[in-house]
Amino acid sequence: MKARQIRTDVHWIGAIDWDRRLFDALIPLPDGTSYNAYLVRGSQKIALIDTVDPSMTHVLMGYLQDVPAIDYVIVNHAEQDHSGSIPRVLEKYPDAKVVTTPKGKELLMALLLIPEDRFITVNDGETLSLGNKALEFIHAPWVHWPETMLTYSREDKILFPCDLFGSHLATTDLYASNEGQIHEAAKRYFAEIMMPFRTSIEKHLERLNNYKIDIIAPSHGPMYDRPSFIIEAYRSWVSGPPKNIVVLPYISMHGSTQRMVEYFVGALVDRGVTVKQFNLAASDIGKLAMALVDAATLVIGTPTVLVGPHPNVAHAAFLANALRPRLQFISIIGSYGWGGKAVEQLTAMVPNLKAEVLAPVIGKGFPGEQDFRALDNLAGTIAAKHEERGFV
Ligand code: FEO
Repeated sequence: MKARQIRTDVHWIGAIDWDRRLFDALIPLPDGTSYNAYLVRGSQKIALIDTVDPSMTHVLMGYLQDVPAIDYVIVNHAEQDHSGSIPRVLEKYPDAKVVTTPKGKELLMALLLIPEDRFITVNDGETLSLGNKALEFIHAPWVHWPETMLTYSREDKILFPCDLFGSHLATTDLYASNEGQIHEAAKRYFAEIMMPFRTSIEKHLERLNNYKIDIIAPSHGPMYDRPSFIIEAYRSWVSGPPKNIVVLPYISMHGSTQRMVEYFVGALVDRGVTVKQFNLAASDIGKLAMALVDAATLVIGTPTVLVGPHPNVAHAAFLANALRPRLQFISIIGSYGWGGKAVEQLTAMVPNLKAEVLAPVIGKGFPGEQDFRALDNLAGTIAAKHEERGFV
């Protein structure tokens, strides 16, 4: 593929990874991803903004075959899917300098063993002249690492935010033409990567109000030539109110918890509450993470295994705790045979969820009338609390 022009002397030179199915050995990538790099040619200097995953260095070097000089390698983020090809770029261009934040320098020296004399560090708000174009650097810590910065091209009004606003989506579309599809992919990306950093991101979004942005060019997925689409979506995910939704991840081994889940879902729906149910034996955890973005309540369903929750349920609870969604209420339903501490252990696993714990419903063996009445009560409590708070 040839370099693709965005503006005069600004080109996309990314790598589309159609086949990747797992990121960080954790996150499912049903639609692949891309690693977007950008080349900005000024009248005096040339800058490369971010690189690509080391598995696709050859793709980047193909674009650079006929580029005689690169003066600056701008590193917005040190994670290897963007930085991993820097050593090869520096080898080809021995005079090129790596431009990044002081924290970025520290991380790149540790992760990629880049020599100290190859760096120029930049302060928040500092600009770098390329001649007829200037790049401004906006420090944006905790998006999602501490070293992150965003790069803004003043003349072209393009924001290069690296991971922020990205989506794991392999596509040859340069821009987000199918906004429904991109909304889904970007929300999944937000849930998996950005959700724990909502507070930091909210501040960075406010700051971006000061910039005139015509194009957002992230380092995963297509670019946005209608930036308000993704900025408004982020605003709602970061600071909008939760919705009248219960997320219900569960496991059942012999059918008791399954029957409780089925009954409970019906009881919630009868009371006007939307439910997103995930059987953890076969669920995509990315979909679970995405559901947590908007939900007001999490109810975890588990049988008892070796006196505790099922390990798959413990995994989901660990993830929910780490992702820090804006949940307001949590509870647990499930079953046991001869005793156990599933409720105590699960509750102790979610200290980051600053949510009110509603009385769990744990039944002995297969559920009976008493269990169903308890599930009705829990469903009624949730519906009433959602209504009191005005969640719609
Ligand atoms: Fe796409 Fe945080 O790396």
